[in-house]
Amino acid sequence: MNLQGSCVVVTGAASGIGRALAIALKSHGADQVVCADIDLVGAQTTADQIAGTALQMDASEEESIKHLIEHVEREIAPIDLFCSNAGILTMGGVEISNEDWQRTWDINVMSHVWAARHVVPRMLERGEGYLLNTASAAGLLNQIGAAPYGVTKHAAVGFAEWLAITYGDKGIGVSVLCPQAVRSEMTRGFEDSVASLDGLLEPETVADFCITALKNNDFLILPHPQVKEYMQIKAGSYARWIAGMQKLRDRFMG
Ligand SMILES: NC(=O)c1ccc[n+]([C@@H]2O[C@H](COP(=O)([O-])OP(=O)(O)OC[C@H]3O[C@@H](n4cnc5c(N)ncnc54)[C@H](O)[C@@H]3O)[C@@H](O)[C@H]2O)c1
Repeated sequence: MNLQGSCVVVTGAASGIGRALAIALKSHGADQVVCADIDLVGAQTTADQIAGTALQMDASEEESIKHLIEHVEREIAPIDLFCSNAGILTMGGVEISNEDWQRTWDINVMSHVWAARHVVPRMLERGEGYLLNTASAAGLLNQIGAAPYGVTKHAAVGFAEWLAITYGDKGIGVSVLCPQAVRSEMTRGFEDSVASLDGLLEPETVADFCITALKNNDFLILPHPQVKEYMQIKAGSYARWIAGMQKLRDRFMG
């Protein structure tokens, strides 16, 4: 896509990848950058750096996403790029409460569905638009010690694939961001976890990968190149891949 003069919305823009993405989009030509987050103070801090607009929203509520999209389209400009980036990490397995599973599902998956529901019809009418959805390498390779995260991120990848299949040849670009560990609030205190095996990237580096992917209309964004290799191993032999993951589980979880 051509970012010059565009109107972009980034959710989760108060921190980490979202903040770096908002800043990178501005420096690559976006005119209006809407920094949306549940943390309005953090969103405002990002917006202040780039003469953007901070708006509070809750990615776990459809009404909040609908309101965000309607507000931006009415008060600012038609949305050229919507980045569904807000997400949460929920550690644990089957013992995690239904409420925590549901909250993780709503923020990591349904927020992407709700954004698409309310912005895609507008983009289709205009004949163009772009969705950049932040999933994770956990959506391709699972997440040791975090079932709600691994499962919801797989669903996020599945939904992005579906969007690309359904709208990719109708003027709507779709990319899905799947990094391993990135330095952010989410990974603070977990810098040496299993996800950092191939290095902890800076959010600015990840944002640069996103800019390149947007310009090239690349679907899958893999800032850690090793992920592709692991996907090939998984596709070649699930048994080999699961055995490898079990070894990593023993090494990092004891
Ligand atoms: N950091 C990593 O290692 C890593 C790796 C792969 C994918 N990701 C994904 O990247 C995205 C951004 O995460 P990050 O690493 O920058 O973490 P972060 O915690 O620094 O940023 C997440 C942002 O999302 C916001 N947010 C959380 N819940 C929200 C809600 N209900 N409504 C609106 N905003 C909400 C937070 O306030 C925060 O500003 C997430 O989807 C995450 O799963 C992160």
